[in-house]
Amino acid sequence: MGDYLNLHSIAVCAVMIMLGRQMEMNHETLISLGLAGLLHDIGNAVIPDKLTSKPGKLTQEEYDIVKTHPIKGWEMLKIHKLDDIVLDVCLHHHERMDGSGYPDGQIFDALSLFAKMAAICDTYDSLISDNHYRKGISPANAIRQMAKWQESQFDKLVFYAFVKTMGLYPFGTLVKLKSGRVAVVEEQSKNSVSSPIVRVFYSTKMEEPIFQEWVDLSKVQDAIVSVEEADELSKKLRIDLRIMLAI
Ligand SMILES: [Fe+2]
Ligand SMILES: [Fe+2]
Repeated sequence: MGDYLNLHSIAVCAVMIMLGRQMEMNHETLISLGLAGLLHDIGNAVIPDKLTSKPGKLTQEEYDIVKTHPIKGWEMLKIHKLDDIVLDVCLHHHERMDGSGYPDGQIFDALSLFAKMAAICDTYDSLISDNHYRKGISPANAIRQMAKWQESQFDKLVFYAFVKTMGLYPFGTLVKLKSGRVAVVEEQSKNSVSSPIVRVFYSTKMEEPIFQEWVDLSKVQDAIVSVEEADELSKKLRIDLRIMLAI
């Protein structure tokens, strides 16, 4: 497995635990959710690299092979007698509420709560990550995109808990404020999912960097007017965001 799959597995592990916490699950379940996140794509280890890291679109035949990774992974994990949550997530993380997923095309009632959680966490990290064939989108735009798919693909209540966990504007999202300032989201506010705590760093009115300070948008008059993608913002403001934000 390549770097992408390693990073993806760690990210899904972290998000599964965060979501489980939000849903007030017990300690043992959180451990299983983390392990399930780490191992959910283990089946890709036996899929040829030339398919899992192919730079272009897969042919139908190739896609059919890639789609066997949940079953291949489940077979590997079953031998090692891992717990039911880990096995279930591995086998069912690509199932969808309307039955359009794989490998079984299971619909709403047949899916476990853990499979529903994994479908959301896995999709979220896939959307925000760069991989060999496309660039990731910002976390906030990923949540908006998923909200549009939510009706047919995801469980409504689990998706709501996920948005509460990540916020409408997750950590690291670049935003423009009503005041003309540009900021990066640092933390979620306890008071509102739409008004996070941000670090302002640039003024579009003065067209220059400003003193960086944290602002809790739930406590001031300012508000988010748009979400910005890092590459476009760098070009538009002619600044190096990596240096400015020390990321
Ligand atoms: Fe997968
Ligand atoms: Fe995955």
